[in-house]
Amino acid sequence: MMETATYLARRQRLETYFDRTAADAWAKLTADGPVSRIRATVREGRERMRTTLLSAMPADLTGLRVLDAGCGTGALAVEAARRGAHVVATDLSATLVNLARERLPAIDGPGTVEFRVADMLDPTLGRFDWVVAMDSLIHYEAKDMASMVAKLAACADRGVVFTFAPRTLLLTLMGWAGKLLPRGDRSPELEPIREATLRQLLGAHPALTGFTVGASTRINTAFYKSQSLELTRA
Ligand SMILES: C[S@@+](CC[C@H](N)C(=O)[O-])C[C@H]1O[C@@H](n2cnc3c(N)ncnc32)[C@H](O)[C@@H]1O
Repeated sequence: MMETATYLARRQRLETYFDRTAADAWAKLTADGPVSRIRATVREGRERMRTTLLSAMPADLTGLRVLDAGCGTGALAVEAARRGAHVVATDLSATLVNLARERLPAIDGPGTVEFRVADMLDPTLGRFDWVVAMDSLIHYEAKDMASMVAKLAACADRGVVFTFAPRTLLLTLMGWAGKLLPRGDRSPELEPIREATLRQLLGAHPALTGFTVGASTRINTAFYKSQSLELTRA
């Protein structure tokens, strides 16, 4: 697997950040306990985004394989499994994956979740019907992000659904990132990108010729700004 130097450097910082610096904050944000008003708007936005991403796939996922790429504490993976999917949920952070394993509820029905500590681009993860990446590509530079989408698409038989940080809201995003998560030299930047630029990059990518770049939904609460994009195999 040939990855660029910028990708590898960013991945290293993200692993350190989510595995140590921000692991506690992330654990609290993704749990049910009380949080500040700022974090409550983030939670609300994230729930809406999770629903948006799931609604890009069939409501009944029975028998389908889904990759939750950058799963964090696993909420989306659990929802997909509740809809019947066999989910592989992977993240760089062993701390967050361990938490996700502890939190995994019993799933009624045929759905399953298998957690992995691995790069989402690891080819040994296998093939999937759908790949979902919620807020896990938002920290990578535009070119790397586009090539990540292309690599995820290469192992998806039906489609890829992911989020990006919309560029028009740069200042708010910076405020959001600053207030939500611990600061520090090692905290990774967001890489906001205009929707038109992203569509252009994906449209021009040779590995994505078999895909249609489809609908996009922006979720916008006081302190959570994120936008979905769907790619489906033509
Ligand atoms: C903002 S969190 C979102 C987590 C989860 N998707 C959610 O919405 O709750 C981003 C996650 O992506 C993970 N991540 C970033 N780059 C990754 C990569 N190349 N492979 C696997 N996980 C990655 C980080 O470790 C982090 O847990």
